Amino acid sequence: ETSELTEHTPKEQWGSRIGVVLAVAGSAVGLGNFLRFPGQAAQNGGGAFLLPYFISLLILGIPLCWAEWTVGRYGGMRGFHSAPGIFSVICRTPKARYLSVFALLIPLVIYMYYIVIEAWCLCYAWNYATGALMMGSDAEAYESFFDSVVGSNQDGHVFGEGAGLLVFIGITFVANFILIYRGVAKGIETFCKFAIPAMVVCALCVLVRVLTLPDSDVDGGLGFMWNPQPEALLNPKTWLAASGQIFFSLSVGFGVIINYSSYLTKKDDVVLSGLTASSMNEFFEVCLGGLITLPAAFMFLGAGVASFGTFALGFNALPNVFAQMPAGQFFGFLWFFMLFLAAITSSLSMLQPVIAFFEEGFNLERHVSTPFLGIIALGGAFFVIYFSSGLKALDTLDFWVGTLLIFVLALIQAVVYGWVFGIDEGERQAHIGAHIRIPRFVQYMLKYVVPVYLGGIFIAFCYLNV
Ligand code: PHE
Repeated sequence: ETSELTEHTPKEQWGSRIGVVLAVAGSAVGLGNFLRFPGQAAQNGGGAFLLPYFISLLILGIPLCWAEWTVGRYGGMRGFHSAPGIFSVICRTPKARYLSVFALLIPLVIYMYYIVIEAWCLCYAWNYATGALMMGSDAEAYESFFDSVVGSNQDGHVFGEGAGLLVFIGITFVANFILIYRGVAKGIETFCKFAIPAMVVCALCVLVRVLTLPDSDVDGGLGFMWNPQPEALLNPKTWLAASGQIFFSLSVGFGVIINYSSYLTKKDDVVLSGLTASSMNEFFEVCLGGLITLPAAFMFLGAGVASFGTFALGFNALPNVFAQMPAGQFFGFLWFFMLFLAAITSSLSMLQPVIAFFEEGFNLERHVSTPFLGIIALGGAFFVIYFSSGLKALDTLDFWVGTLLIFVLALIQAVVYGWVFGIDEGERQAHIGAHIRIPRFVQYMLKYVVPVYLGGIFIAFCYLNV
């Protein structure tokens, strides 16, 4: 078997070890950390959300992340880089590829709405840079600016032309296109190596500023974020949302990590890389996202944050806070520029699973598939914008695809790993090239606990919603 392994060299390869970790971290750290996490927490019991959240991280997130890195490299060394290909190798039957269609669809659909929000971030960053967003303490002005960007107000700003959204969509789109077109190492990896450190610096500056504001004491936002409201724990939706958030945020469960890790070799350490990338994601999510967005929004909205939508928190409440702080224009710019970087390093990863699939299944080069997918995605983006009135299309897609479908696919993946691939083989494959060991009980968790846990939440959720 080993001779067959050494013969296959993938068309694409990562340039460096730190590069692949940063690329995975780039995929993981995104709008999910800074907007979706605080939004989900606010809507699902504030601090109470953190209990199912951390349980999901330990039981689901990290184990499945290791499983995905392992299986991805296993498939890659056998010449397969897309989820359908890898699933067929593992299950030893081509029929298994149908199990993984979601692994292509989920990232593609998320891409369609994700780049729209990415363009909002760029639009906000630009409007801070020019000073247009410093409108004093006039809450209505910020709200109507947000409405004009989103296109959700009544008087005809359908395509957000009020704020020139189309221009920002265009820029975002071209930037994504160029980087994806250049390929895994030259485009994605190179960009992430620069963007991640830049994001850390920007986020830390904003964090220090927010935490040193006079009102950000424990009674306010921090208290809301970190003090549990236990009733929420009785609602299965809280648990569903928490596990959905873990998957969404870690980019685990839907084909992205499988694809990225399929470009690795047997010299690479998937255990340590997986753990590093996930830890970086959690640092951004809990320490930066959790300590900036909600506490800041809370200062402005009080307990009303719970009724604010995810996007309104970041794009409507926060500008009010920036308006009240010294040098708010500068911090506003840093914040939205950082959001834009976080978003683009994520969106870069979303088309890659489909590109790999086209290459494998239809022999389509990325130079053909990238423009083709670009057009499909642009169509989807316009659909989202057109129906963005009241953010309906966005929220609906985000729940059905971003939470529920991911959840289902993660369940399928856990079963395939635990029961078809087998935990003994999984453990052996994971440790090729590894410097640290995955504790044995993690394998048992993947086989028994993960499917039962996910299945249980799913049944409880369906039961309570019919
Ligand atoms: N993990 C990203 C975030 O937190 C979102 C993402 C979704 C990335 C799908 C890749 C694929 O924002």
